Amino acid sequence: MKIFVAGGTGVLGRRVVPMLISLGHEVVGLSRSVANDDLLATLGAEARRGDLFDREGLYSISADCDAIIHLATSIPTKSRTSIDDWVLNDRIKIEGTANLVSAAKRNSAQLYIQSSVTFLYGRRHGEWVDESCPYADNLPAVVKSSVEMERLVLNSVTRDKLPAVILRFSNVYSHDSKHTTTMYDMISRGKFPLIERGTAYWNLVTADDAAEAVVAAVKNGKQNVGKVYNICDDEPVKYKDLVEFLASSLGAPKPGSIPIFLAKHAIGEITVQYLLQSMRCMNKRAKEELGWHLRYPTYREGHEAIMERWRRQHAPTGTNSVSALAVR
Ligand SMILES: NC(=O)c1ccc[n+]([C@@H]2O[C@H](COP(=O)([O-])OP(=O)(O)OC[C@H]3O[C@@H](n4cnc5c(N)ncnc54)[C@H](OP(=O)(O)O)[C@@H]3O)[C@@H](O)[C@H]2O)c1
Repeated sequence: MKIFVAGGTGVLGRRVVPMLISLGHEVVGLSRSVANDDLLATLGAEARRGDLFDREGLYSISADCDAIIHLATSIPTKSRTSIDDWVLNDRIKIEGTANLVSAAKRNSAQLYIQSSVTFLYGRRHGEWVDESCPYADNLPAVVKSSVEMERLVLNSVTRDKLPAVILRFSNVYSHDSKHTTTMYDMISRGKFPLIERGTAYWNLVTADDAAEAVVAAVKNGKQNVGKVYNICDDEPVKYKDLVEFLASSLGAPKPGSIPIFLAKHAIGEITVQYLLQSMRCMNKRAKEELGWHLRYPTYREGHEAIMERWRRQHAPTGTNSVSALAVR
């Protein structure tokens, strides 16, 4: 197939693009800059200039494509955010999705893949959740746009027969993700405290395995139109256990605990809400129906691979800077 990828230059996209090409697909990547033109060319894709908010432009640059994958996002990378920092992300989720769905319909695309988030299950107090779990009522404002985005896609499946599949990603981590290296950096400096003793369950997946899930959806999505899939590893982890594991691996001090009101003061309400969402997501459906396999079944293998890469690349120079992990 000829596949149009929005977000092909992001952490997830730059893994997905070469994997699709190695399977024999042609990839057209949406680009907004010379740097991304070059990156897409290096990955083996054809770069086409456009913007998610320019519907007519999207029509023209995706007209000859058989499938569309929406991996674009704009998640703020700083730890303390305000609602204003999320406006662009909300626009990408709602307006960007409406435009790409419209392009997919116009092109009579054979497949449309939408990235989404597991956060829309809300606070579940550590319960196990599968894809039948409804959207939470009192979601943080910054997650509501993902619910609207999913409804938009699923309505189009019903109304227009859009051949869409939705992948709900949990926390995606990798050596080249700013969120991951910032977390490592804070932990290594003893600046990543536990809130409410860190008992909330987190769900994680490496960017490599998340990319494999996108490829599995390309292979097997057409038989599963209208389905949503949790994309997370096999072992939800209490965030206390994760942070202690990383602190020990990084040779950092054991993290301390702070009360919730102090955490809100230090990193803001939005980040605290995100850190304290507690649920255990099941990934059985993606494995069974999409044939998705995990290379890193738990956070231990995933983070160990990142640390190992860091040790290999930087041990000879003697540097122990965590920011050195962020090598593309
Ligand atoms: N990272 C996570 O922990 C996580 C968790 C759950 C779900 N996800 C989902 O996974 C997907 C991929 O995330 P990621 O971590 O790969 O994101 P990322 O590294 O931040 O990449 C974002 C991508 O979106 C593109 N983009 C942003 N604004 C755009 C616009 N207006 N028009 C066209 N392209 C635009 C960026 O291109 P430019 O270089 O031009 O800005 C870049 O290619 C997203 O849908 C995200 O919601 C991620």
